[in-house]
Amino acid sequence: MENKQQQLEVKWETFTDETALSASQKTLLAAAKTALDKAYAPYSKFQVGAALLLTNGAIVSGANFENAAYPMCLCAERMALATAVSSYPGERITHIAITVRNPAKPVNQPAAPCGACRQVMVEVEQRQGGDMEVLLQGEQGAIMVLKSAKVLLPFYFDGSFL
Ligand code: THU
Repeated sequence: MENKQQQLEVKWETFTDETALSASQKTLLAAAKTALDKAYAPYSKFQVGAALLLTNGAIVSGANFENAAYPMCLCAERMALATAVSSYPGERITHIAITVRNPAKPVNQPAAPCGACRQVMVEVEQRQGGDMEVLLQGEQGAIMVLKSAKVLLPFYFDGSFL
């Protein structure tokens, strides 16, 4: 019996601020920040904003949407993705920007999406046959850019098994 050592290389880019980003990346991050104001987060007080860029040029945003029955809380990323696929069926999503705000303390570093959102993001990529660039930024500060949601969740559950 043999066992083999395996390893993954995770690649992403980090920018210290927005200056080197493309115009569309900047616009999308700004849209994600605008979406923070639409968060309904009376329980956690933690706001998340997401914005998607589609191939038709549309920008679709979403914010977290909480509920007194806590497990019903909806994440910003999935709010935005569900809105995009239902409003623009068949349109490819090329970028997703995600940002967060904690009114109690400034978040100056990128916050990565939760595991459930990663799984959904990967399936969106598979369904549309193309990756989404992922842009992550706190309320301010460094920006992480990843080429695909699969970078965040390499061992995703693959629906093609079903
Ligand atoms: N949240 C998101 O909207 N996206 C994530 O990826 C992680 C968490 C929300 C859910 C809840 O409303 C609040 O952030 C605190 O967990």
